[in-house]
Amino acid sequence: MPRDDAHRRGRSVEVKPLHSRHSSYPNSMSASHKAFKAVVIPRMSSRQWIALGLGAFFALILLSQAIGPKSSPWRISDEAFTFPSQGVVARPNEDVSLDLSQVLVGPPTKHFRDNLRNETRYLTSWLSAGFTNDVMTLGNLIYLAMITNRIPILPPVDSYIGKRPNPMPFSAIFDLPRLRRALNIPVLEWQEVKDPRSEETDILGCWNIFEVDDMRASGPRESRNPISLVLDISYTRAPTSVKLIPGFIHDAHSSFWALAPLAFPDMRAKALASPEVVTTPGVRTGTSTPPDEQLLCFDYLFYVSADVPFEYDRDVYPSWHAVQRHFRWTSEVEKLGGEYLRRVLNVTEHDPIPLHITIHARHGDFKNWCNELDPQDCFAPLSVFAVRIAEIQKELLERKGVHVEHVIVTSDEEDEKWWDKVKAMGWLRIDHAKERTAETHGEWYPVILDAYVQSAGLGFVGTDRSTFSTVARRRVQDWHDGAVRTVRWGRPDADTH
Ligand SMILES: *[C@@H]1O[C@H](CO)[C@@H](O)[C@H](O)[C@H]1NC(C)=O
Ligand SMILES: *[C@@H]1O[C@H](CO)[C@@H](O)[C@H](O)[C@H]1NC(C)=O
Repeated sequence: MPRDDAHRRGRSVEVKPLHSRHSSYPNSMSASHKAFKAVVIPRMSSRQWIALGLGAFFALILLSQAIGPKSSPWRISDEAFTFPSQGVVARPNEDVSLDLSQVLVGPPTKHFRDNLRNETRYLTSWLSAGFTNDVMTLGNLIYLAMITNRIPILPPVDSYIGKRPNPMPFSAIFDLPRLRRALNIPVLEWQEVKDPRSEETDILGCWNIFEVDDMRASGPRESRNPISLVLDISYTRAPTSVKLIPGFIHDAHSSFWALAPLAFPDMRAKALASPEVVTTPGVRTGTSTPPDEQLLCFDYLFYVSADVPFEYDRDVYPSWHAVQRHFRWTSEVEKLGGEYLRRVLNVTEHDPIPLHITIHARHGDFKNWCNELDPQDCFAPLSVFAVRIAEIQKELLERKGVHVEHVIVTSDEEDEKWWDKVKAMGWLRIDHAKERTAETHGEWYPVILDAYVQSAGLGFVGTDRSTFSTVARRRVQDWHDGAVRTVRWGRPDADTH
């Protein structure tokens, strides 16, 4: 079945607990339907029916005006407003999920609290795991906000493997207005709440779940986000009930459903009354404060799942289905990615981009998992990838009637001899050193463009245990109904089948 936008929009209704809470409960609907049928309908003349209909119509109009969105003093005209720091444009009255005046007092302030609306509750967390995992963590953050009826505030991503580039807001790579429309939630970024130029320290109480979930940890998960946001965090160790597998030292997960109660007053109070719950002062100001009620905050949400640890390679992965599949590239990334694809596929800017299949061969630090094995024997050889490419070509021919000839390889391998073998296979390479990608477009762009190229293919062959591969595989499946395979590795015959 083609998965077009309408199909996605249709499905997103099921997972929209904020705005149509009851639409996801068929049982309650059928119950009310029965109740309706049980009501005795009185006998009336047709004139009485018309009068009743008109009365109900005007009553509905009056009611909708009474409960409609209240105008805020800040929202003075229908003109588009722009937050000065990053050019997010929202048109009041066009779409409630884009109307930030409902959830912020105004443009970013020196102290974040001055910009929160009294009647609104929010949720935030910090990032600490490299580019792809941070993006997945943002998906978890938004999903947790959805099921607790809060407004998510996203911190910028600020790391990828082995590198520490400058923090980059989510909206610099992903289309935030489109995400807001898809989720029908005014997803916020920290730069919209607190002025990125502010040097004013804000104290914030957060839950420390990492130390509870990971029994080997000796404190909350560290992140650079609070430092760049000039926040002093006072952490409160969460109750042991947040840990997914009680007492299990080899896992560090929480479930969404164990964290969600902390968003509500009764369970928060109950948790705080427990003797195991300890609050530590913030390191900058020495201030101790309990977890914030209005801006609910957790140290780290990468290890959060609905069902089992590391569920992202399974079908049960609500953070993907409800949220992350709506993380679409900005038009700038699409445009630049298209230019790279045209160059590597050797077509002019006037030609359509030919279809391609991408390989992601993750090497680099994965050799740490090879133990005593020579990486040559540990990583999947190109012949194994070739088998998978042939499978994908066959599948695409059968299922879609297209022959996809071009294969583009993305890898963090630095050995040019390996790349020579790639070339000998007739496969293509986007060479970021040769393209001078980082110098021209910024240090984030080698990883962003690789992710783009992977996501733009009609087929994808990934590396087992790589989340970079996981997300690419899901994008190709969900966005293009493409064909995907995952190559196993770790011993010479790991992918034999
Ligand atoms: C929020 O509440 C405080 C204290 O009640 C009040 O001083 C402030 O004006 C309120 N702010 C907004 C934006 O409503
Ligand atoms: C790229 O395309 C042009 C024009 O079709 C052709 O002359 C050239 O040989 C191609 N280059 C490569 C590397 O395939």
